[in-house]
Amino acid sequence: MKYTTDYLVLGAGIAGMSFALKVADKHSVTLLSKSELFRTATHYAQGGIAAVMYRPDSWQKHIVDTMDAGAGVNDEKVVRFTIEEGTDRIKELIQIGTHFDKKENGEFDLAKEGGHSERRVFHFKDQTGAEIQRALTKQVKAHPNINILEHHFAVDLITEHHLGIEITRKSEKTCFGAYVLNPETEKIDTYLAKVTLIATGGSGNVYHTTTNPEIATGDGVAMVYRAKGAVDNMEFFQFHPTAYYEPDVTPAFLITEALRGAGAILKDVNGKEFMQKYDERKSLAPRDIVARAIDNEMKISGSDHVYLDCRHIDKEKLLDHFPNIYDHCKRRGIDITKEFIPVVPAAHYQCGGIKVDEYGQNNIKHLYASGEVSMTGLHGANRLASNSLLEALVYSHRAAMHSLNLIDIIDFRKDIPEWDDEGTVFNEEMVLITQTKKELSQIMSSYVGIVRSNLRLKRALDRLEILYRETEDLYKNSIVTQKICELRNMINVAYLIIKMAQNRKESRGLHYSLDYPPQR
Ligand code: FAD
Ligand code: SIN
Repeated sequence: MKYTTDYLVLGAGIAGMSFALKVADKHSVTLLSKSELFRTATHYAQGGIAAVMYRPDSWQKHIVDTMDAGAGVNDEKVVRFTIEEGTDRIKELIQIGTHFDKKENGEFDLAKEGGHSERRVFHFKDQTGAEIQRALTKQVKAHPNINILEHHFAVDLITEHHLGIEITRKSEKTCFGAYVLNPETEKIDTYLAKVTLIATGGSGNVYHTTTNPEIATGDGVAMVYRAKGAVDNMEFFQFHPTAYYEPDVTPAFLITEALRGAGAILKDVNGKEFMQKYDERKSLAPRDIVARAIDNEMKISGSDHVYLDCRHIDKEKLLDHFPNIYDHCKRRGIDITKEFIPVVPAAHYQCGGIKVDEYGQNNIKHLYASGEVSMTGLHGANRLASNSLLEALVYSHRAAMHSLNLIDIIDFRKDIPEWDDEGTVFNEEMVLITQTKKELSQIMSSYVGIVRSNLRLKRALDRLEILYRETEDLYKNSIVTQKICELRNMINVAYLIIKMAQNRKESRGLHYSLDYPPQR
């Protein structure tokens, strides 16, 4: 089937939904989620959303903290406007009904996290993302011009390539919409759109241990890369220092950095503090430093986790601010007011992604990207905690305003052919897909994790090559399913992470190579 819509929005987290709400008043919007609406990284966000609201904080301090974490790879102009505009975007989020915790005097109760010099993180208990997702979902569902399609999987972007015109990385190209898998018919439908926004989130599932929900399979980056659009900075993959240690449980449960902001201290397996050896900010140093320090301590002691100690924090404060974490640990037999929490670093955030300009535009015309899938220049080589939700709000707003000025002069491209699935057969061998996925995440965690080397990266690429060839064969001969597409996308993203890591001949931010020790 063929459908037309003014705007096609791929993804229903904070980036996709906040964009949809800003363009829907005068235009038709089709909003896709490949799963149920609430299954997003947004829903899982704990710590909160960083923005400057009260003195003594200032935009300048937030800019300095962001650039300091980003290790000189940030785009200063982008950092400045994102932080300056962030304050208004938070006010809008509050206006549409998002609740953030307040103090008794009525001011917002702002938290501190690693790398922040001031308290500036708006939060709702330790479930900030779920609250934001709730508020946005309510608005989106109530909007008459937004057509929400759950369980609809975007397979590929439509470009000139589908009209038989050869395109290259350098040639001009345009996005005309996307091919989308319909869960009822199991056929691929054609969605023609004047403007397409990719807001498909991250790709943590390329690694074995990740805080990301299972939807985070790098679909957006892979679609754009296949369509020969620009992707950058993929070597900077952020590992969160403290996921709850529970081997083979996916996703790994996050122990928010805000807990360290409230005073929790990292300790080794013998119960001794260690962060003073690595950074004067100790447990509250930026994430790359803390994750590497934990990795090193685990290697020295041979243990597979370290501990977080919050026994000294006021019990009432712990229960009031971190009820979700308290309950999670309690269900596993740990009373965090009396016992250490076992923690381990886990793949958490893709700092690179689809390269966009200051309005969220990719070099493929009429294609925008926002949220974790994008590479705006804000995060540089390492994202400052709680800057992700902020970036998504600011860029979705910018992309919305920019595209509203363009959309009336864009026509639908009507001569797009329907998806061709001639010559494929149903693939029954699900085991091939699950096994390859396991192998992929083992390769990435073993060789392309927190500490890398030339040899490890080469080994990873050699192993990946085999998985790539096998999976492409399977894909070409199978009827398209979500699982085979996700596997293909993850292999594509893993390839980009490895290749970009190989190209960076230095240690910087999240990319740390034994062959290029950091310059002091
Ligand atoms: P998501 O919220 O992940 O939404 C992606 C959407 O895309 C989903 O609707 C999905 O179904 C859809 N989708 C994906 N692929 C396809 C496809 N092929 N077809 C159709 N739809 C598709 N950041 C902060 O700033 N502060 C925090 O406190 C914080 N805590 C976090 C805690 C956890 C446990 C995690 C995992 C992340 C956290 N982050 C935090 C990061 C932040 O939550 C994410 O970066 C952000 O929510 C991403 O939003 P998004 O809209 O880009 O993507
Ligand atoms: C956390 O709550 O520690 C996660 C914050 C983030 O990823 O920005």
